[in-house]
Amino acid sequence: RQVQFQQQQQEGGSSPPATSHTTEVGFVPTMGCLHQGHLSLMRQAKKDSRAVVASIFVNPSQFAANEDFDKYPRQDKDDLAMCAKEGVDLVFLPEVAEMYHGSTGTDAFGKVGTFVEVRGKSQLLEGSVRPHFFLGVATVVSKLFNIVQPTTAFFGQKDVQQCVILRQMVHDLFMPLNIRVCPTVREKDGLAMSSRNVYLSPEERAIAPIMYRGMQAALNEHYLKRGERSAAALREVVRQVIATEPSVTIQYISIADGNSLQEVDTIDDKNGAILSGAIKVGKTRLIDNILLDFK
Ligand code: PAJ
Repeated sequence: RQVQFQQQQQEGGSSPPATSHTTEVGFVPTMGCLHQGHLSLMRQAKKDSRAVVASIFVNPSQFAANEDFDKYPRQDKDDLAMCAKEGVDLVFLPEVAEMYHGSTGTDAFGKVGTFVEVRGKSQLLEGSVRPHFFLGVATVVSKLFNIVQPTTAFFGQKDVQQCVILRQMVHDLFMPLNIRVCPTVREKDGLAMSSRNVYLSPEERAIAPIMYRGMQAALNEHYLKRGERSAAALREVVRQVIATEPSVTIQYISIADGNSLQEVDTIDDKNGAILSGAIKVGKTRLIDNILLDFK
């Protein structure tokens, strides 16, 4: 299904307005249940592009059997209204059977059909907890790129490993498009916006920003103020802040090189590093990251 919006004609004649568009077709892939994080990508795409395409597709191949594919929040009608409001020109909402040629996207997983595997980086960090995940992401994003044929695709820093892996895929497979990474949009208390935040009870929601607070403490108090460059020491700061909420479990806290995603021992001032983590608050899994550098 495709929903195309009629944009209002500019007043004062039919000639197109002068623009400083740097890209032809800007593309924002999403799994829907849109929030300000997604909308910020659409706004950036709108600024940069002559035409903006968004997709809404909850991709089964990036969910393991025990994960939340069935209960992932879906709200197509509200999402379409938000896309229209942001001036998106076309929204692509395919069915699973269309994207996977009649299969469910998981039944044939790894056995039949074509999958795109970005080796190495896909097994680290998120991949260490969700080994199937980036195979599903790289596969569906390749399909979407081939269908939409964007000039530039927009992704959020919130999912930093996804950005690094998709950049690698585009580079390795000579895909003719640019990837633009946009900043993480946060709630007032620092919690990174996520479609999965709707799973949190009010009590869980109140403690959910704890990982961000830990990361900010490591960045501001230790990395910037005291000049701490030991990754182990900085990871420990984050762990100790999170430990003040005993109900929260840590899956990983990492300080990794921004290109290779390999853990670093010491952060060198030239390259900086990515501080990232995954926690569970109740049954809900939350991820976040910040950059350790001087910008
Ligand atoms: P989804 O989680 O819906 O996210 C779609 C895009 O929005 C991603 O690029 C993600 O990084 C970005 N995003 C999410 N929360 C954000 C926030 N708080 N601030 C800024 N950007 C944010 O990521 C996926 O979907 C899927 O894996 C997908 C790429 C669509 C493939 O299925």
